[in-house]
Amino acid sequence: MKLLVTGGAGFIGSNFIRHILNKYKTYKIINLDKLTYAGNLDNLLDVASNRRYKFVKGDICDAKLVDKLVPQVDAIINFAAETHVDRSIMESGSFIKTDVFGTHTLLEAAKKHKTARYIQISTDEVYGSIQKGSFTEKSTLSPNSPYSSSKAGGDLLARSYFVTHKVPVLITRASNNFGPFQYPEKVIPLFVTNALEDKQLPLYGDGKNVRDWLYVTDHCKGVDLVLHKGKDGEIYNIGGGNEITNLELTSLILEYTGKGKELIKRVADRPGHDRRYSLNCAKIKRELGYAPSTNFKQLLKSTVDWYAANLWWWKKLKDRDFGSYYKKQYKI
Ligand code: NAD
Ligand code: DAU
Repeated sequence: MKLLVTGGAGFIGSNFIRHILNKYKTYKIINLDKLTYAGNLDNLLDVASNRRYKFVKGDICDAKLVDKLVPQVDAIINFAAETHVDRSIMESGSFIKTDVFGTHTLLEAAKKHKTARYIQISTDEVYGSIQKGSFTEKSTLSPNSPYSSSKAGGDLLARSYFVTHKVPVLITRASNNFGPFQYPEKVIPLFVTNALEDKQLPLYGDGKNVRDWLYVTDHCKGVDLVLHKGKDGEIYNIGGGNEITNLELTSLILEYTGKGKELIKRVADRPGHDRRYSLNCAKIKRELGYAPSTNFKQLLKSTVDWYAANLWWWKKLKDRDFGSYYKKQYKI
């Protein structure tokens, strides 16, 4: 199989490329990535010289380029997106461009070239927040941020290409990922690296918002199952089964970095902050045999250890961005 992975220089895409190249010894991958602030070729140093891997710098909104690449592959896995909720609150135009129009560009090419599989990497955030119980794939979409709305746009557009144009679309909706190579704006790498530097951890609101944490390799395994065994036109939730509050998460990070609670700084809440995400993952477990890891604390500890051991990877990103984005966002 030859795959077009878009956004492969980001956090999940790079972990997915490594997973596929290691597991399927004959598969080839083209990685199309624009290298925005979140795209980082350091994430893929170990595969850069693999003869089954090729990197193309470019934008998924570039129809001419996409039209050249798509006929070369059997499947498209679209990870490319603007992904940070806080940034989408400050500026949302780039989210609409990439997450909606970029998805449209890929779908048009998949339609034209009759691509055998198109996987849209969506998110649990498209369902919005849920106080009790869990969202199934049939739940109503109710996104609350410009980020989740733009992702819902791409998700619905992908679905419509299956219904109207018979493009073999499959959609995944995953919960909050964590693991190595996550850009240090998301809460786990931000809090871990801040703690390692004895900087404050800006905890939003009352700290009681709940997220379901999914180890990035488990997400990759879920997408792999959907790619190989999923049914065209279907949606699959992919969760970790690890729901905890942000305060509980922060306490674990402080424990694993050996730092004290005085580093926690309560800051104003995120506007429109979703209270709780929760996925019902019975479908992917039952139909595709998905089984996430059950050792959350161990995986979180190993993630903390990875950031502690890989200062070279994150320090320059924070030095580059701290003056502008972080200062504006956190005032710390
Ligand atoms: P990320 O921000 O780390 O990486 C995004 C990548 O997309 C970057 O490499 C960036 O350069 C690239 N990109 C952005 N715009 C592009 C464009 N126009 N053309 C080509 N490349 C472009 O994101 P991530 O956390 O790895 O998320 C990957 C996907 O998974 C996204 O679609 C996201 O919505 C989805 N998702 C993420 C999570 C999570 O917890 N991180 C959970 C569920 C779903
Ligand atoms: O649920 C899947 C989604 O998870 C993905 O689709 C998004 O791409 C990804 O960014 C993530 O969205 P969240 O908004 O849940 O992740 P974030 O890491 O930004 O925040 C996680 C929680 O931590 C959230 O409740 C807000 C809180 N938080 C976050 C930051 C950055 C803080 O309290 N302080 C912070 O500084």
